Amino acid sequence: MLGVLLGGLILSLLLVYRHRTKKAAENPRGLPFPPGPKPLPLLGNTLQIPITGSWHLYTKWQKTYGDIVRFKLFGQSVVILNSYEAANDLLHQRANFQDRIRYEMTGELMGWINTVPFVKYGSRWRRHRKIMHSALHSGAVGKFNPAQHRFALEYLNDLLDAPEDFIKSLRLMAAKVIMHSVYKVEVKNAENEYVTLAETAIKQINDTIPSGAFLVNFFPFLCKIPSWFPGAGFQHIAAEGKKTVEEMSNKPLEYVKRRMAEGIAEPSESFASMALENYRYDGAEDDIKCVSATLYTAGADTTVSALKTFILAMALFPEVQKKAQAEIDRVVGNGRLPTFEDREGLPYIGCVIKEVLRWRVVLPLGVGHSTHSSDYYAGYYFPRDTLVHPNVWAMTRDEKMYPDPEKFWPERFEGRDKDKDIVDPHMYAFGFGRRICPGMHFARATMYITIVSLLTAFDITKAVDEQGREITPDGSDDGCIINHVNPFKCKIKPRSPRAVELIKKGVEGLR
Ligand code: HEM
Repeated sequence: MLGVLLGGLILSLLLVYRHRTKKAAENPRGLPFPPGPKPLPLLGNTLQIPITGSWHLYTKWQKTYGDIVRFKLFGQSVVILNSYEAANDLLHQRANFQDRIRYEMTGELMGWINTVPFVKYGSRWRRHRKIMHSALHSGAVGKFNPAQHRFALEYLNDLLDAPEDFIKSLRLMAAKVIMHSVYKVEVKNAENEYVTLAETAIKQINDTIPSGAFLVNFFPFLCKIPSWFPGAGFQHIAAEGKKTVEEMSNKPLEYVKRRMAEGIAEPSESFASMALENYRYDGAEDDIKCVSATLYTAGADTTVSALKTFILAMALFPEVQKKAQAEIDRVVGNGRLPTFEDREGLPYIGCVIKEVLRWRVVLPLGVGHSTHSSDYYAGYYFPRDTLVHPNVWAMTRDEKMYPDPEKFWPERFEGRDKDKDIVDPHMYAFGFGRRICPGMHFARATMYITIVSLLTAFDITKAVDEQGREITPDGSDDGCIINHVNPFKCKIKPRSPRAVELIKKGVEGLR
């Protein structure tokens, strides 16, 4: 008996010693973790973190714990960077901070692991970024302008018919732009087979990605549990998700390949056909399939979020709308609708776009980066595989940089391109470092042409109730990863009979 007790004691001491030496080897300077709320054993801070809008909580924590806050989701170490400076120092400057954590449910089980936003920092990620870069870098992306222009016009036309459906038709517009650019698929309505598949996939990602939503994210061994096992319902959800991922990636690419094989595809008519023509290494087709599928999931809902924000801002801040319209009327006149050629001559519109990206930032926590190995910053220790989120929301609410941050006020950026006291939202709204959004030039072009066309042709005002009283949207927003302003009503009315004529003529010209 005494021997067993002694053996147990020695084993425990050895384990404690091993644990300590391992920790000391990883953290030789013995620096503390960043400050943060006290975690519970095993659960960590999981119960404190809301599934949606968690950036508001982290922004409050900034007052208590400072710019760098650490907490735990079960065993996962999470760090929130509340200042632009910290996010830039770590996520932009350091190669060690460019990885992604494993999302067991969404990534491994459902199969998103090989798509760019989820893929680990390594050779596959590099290949995917190269394929995207060749078509989406600032010098090449203009190729997609005609499609962006065309679908913005169709959006204006949809608004003439059903202005109250402005969000539904905005979704359709974003779907048309991406599907046409990536696959040259002609989307007529939201029931389009490829769009339905992609929208289902987005919903499945949103339902499964919140870290706390599935235990398997924290206890990877649960991956092995068969679906018939009690409590393994997540395996059914995962299997369903995997099927969608496969269909949404395979089907549109098959369409592209068919067009190419039958000789009806024009040269370089879409992102996917260009990539298939240009990249022919072993496994290229699989890479192109994954990348193309990613573009819809990463590019459609984000664009809708930004443009919804714009429409809300116009309803709430009429003086901004008037100033923007005056600039367009001065530069473009009223004999035509604006084009991409007018972009340089419309600096106030440029400021409006910046303010849209700041006021209701699309991804308030970016997409979390993770550390490849342990690291130090500002006197704190970051263990390996720490999930690091920039709290972009907090940056946009920094009153020193953006006085009266709730006000939609594009003037805050006017003439301040070189001013170091104010950070241009393009520096954080599209992420940081090597993971920065590869679709940013594409997204900005879609935003520009939609915004400028809308402002030229329509007045956006508050809706009125039956008694003729104005309904003021409360401007609230919600979301888990992508932030969306909550549904709101507004009135979208053509500015003049001439504007209607120009839209009709423009759409006619497309036929
Ligand atoms: C207003 C619209 C958009 C916003 C605000 C936005 C923002 C972002 C942000 C914040 C990230 C994370 C970067 C990081 O981890 O540091 C990201 C990643 C990404 N975005 Fe966008 N995005 C938008 C539109 C688009 C579009 C239109 C596309 C494609 C055509 C796209 C493709 C991607 C991809 C593939 C990634 C993953 C990059 C990687 O992990 O290496 N995005 N985006």
